[in-house]
Amino acid sequence: MILAQLIWLTLLAAVLILLPIAPGLRRSYPYAWWCLIGYPVTVIRVRLTWRRLTTNLGLAVAKRPGRALLGDLVVRGDPLKPIPPRLGVPKLRRGGLDVKVRLHPGQVPEHFLSAAEALTHAWRVHAVRLFTDERGFVTLSALAWDPLRAPVVPYQLKQRVLRAVVGLLEDGRAWVIDFRRAPHWLIVGATRSGKSTLIASLVKELAPQRVALFGIDLKGGMELSLFEDRLSALASTRTEAARLLAELVAETEARMQLCRSVGARSIWDLPAKLRKLPVVVIVDEVAELYLMATREDKAEVGEISTNLLRLAQLGAALGIHLVIAGQRVGSDLGPGVTALRAQLAGRICHRVSDAGTAEMALGDLSKDALEAAQRITLAEQGVAITADTDGQWLRARSIHVTPDQARRAARKYACLAPAWPGLHVDEPTEGVYL
Ligand SMILES: Nc1ncnc2c1ncn2[C@@H]1O[C@H](COP(=O)(O)OP(=O)(O)O)[C@@H](O)[C@H]1O
Ligand SMILES: [Mg+2]
Repeated sequence: MILAQLIWLTLLAAVLILLPIAPGLRRSYPYAWWCLIGYPVTVIRVRLTWRRLTTNLGLAVAKRPGRALLGDLVVRGDPLKPIPPRLGVPKLRRGGLDVKVRLHPGQVPEHFLSAAEALTHAWRVHAVRLFTDERGFVTLSALAWDPLRAPVVPYQLKQRVLRAVVGLLEDGRAWVIDFRRAPHWLIVGATRSGKSTLIASLVKELAPQRVALFGIDLKGGMELSLFEDRLSALASTRTEAARLLAELVAETEARMQLCRSVGARSIWDLPAKLRKLPVVVIVDEVAELYLMATREDKAEVGEISTNLLRLAQLGAALGIHLVIAGQRVGSDLGPGVTALRAQLAGRICHRVSDAGTAEMALGDLSKDALEAAQRITLAEQGVAITADTDGQWLRARSIHVTPDQARRAARKYACLAPAWPGLHVDEPTEGVYL
């Protein structure tokens, strides 16, 4: 009895202390605010609204049938007590909470997908997402606020070659472009949506690594020339691009021969002294590669298209990686584009001006990712939807790397740019290097 009173008094004291400091805490230490106040309040809100919410949204089902016998009459009506799907214990997460829900027989996760917006409002959170990692259950994941409004990349991962931290994911983790997980990446977005900034962020991260970087930028090299010091080659006309791609295909074939001769399945299996430098080829504004005005252009475009496709198909195991960025990456550019897209497992979609481009980037992965991409507003520069091989998607925002920062990073590590052709480097390259 006394113990219960003591607990109540302590709780009351805690509430009285926290109430006046809550707004300041929320502003200055949002994560502490979430743990101490936001999370418990939201848990109470989730519990209190669950029955009414699921009933209104048609997610609660009645145990009794909708018809009953009243004497000789069959009467129809809504049962008085529909049973809501069983709600688990909401688990605290950095800046959010996860709660598991057991599906009623006959329910599928899509039923909850259409209810996500209503849940967002009822729980007064920024967004509610849905995950299904166990049959018969869905996990509702609520985000307290939009962490991408002012992204702070929380920690640096252990650095590893071909892995770049380029921004922040909505769930608070670092946004990583990992070429060992997804060998090639497609980046789409309208003008000024943040493509080049993302590329700058990527190059800044790759610059200190033992990686050869190549650029293809047909907008006169305006964007990628910032990093020219660190690039082994930069193609700024289509003829230069055609030549560079042909040389890279030749390099790929040479690597293939080498692997075959020693019985290795990829360059990573080669003995250390034969190991080859990984190569990342960055193409900004891919549509320019496919534009043709004259008949002679056609042959060149055809050759470029074939060589890009070959690099994408063969490159993954041979350490040749592609990053392809563009405003529009539709089949109207040419038949090779759709085939190329199929090879680019990593997908990043910024704000797009037409649904077709978002569809091209994310449509074959997930429908709700597509909708999320179309909701990115003009003001959200640098915000993108990212998805890779496991099919899961997340909202993310790139680190805002200014042109000056990018130029400085490239200059600092210019000595790491191997000479092309030959990709010669002075020391033997190790398995994991920086
Ligand atoms: N992650 C970001 N955070 C804040 N602002 C950004 C971010 N990414 C881009 N921007 C802003 O958007 C502008 C246009 O971005 P840019 O990368 O040049 O777009 P694109 O290459 O798609 O045309 C940049 O000048 C910058 O001011
Ligand atoms: Mg650009």
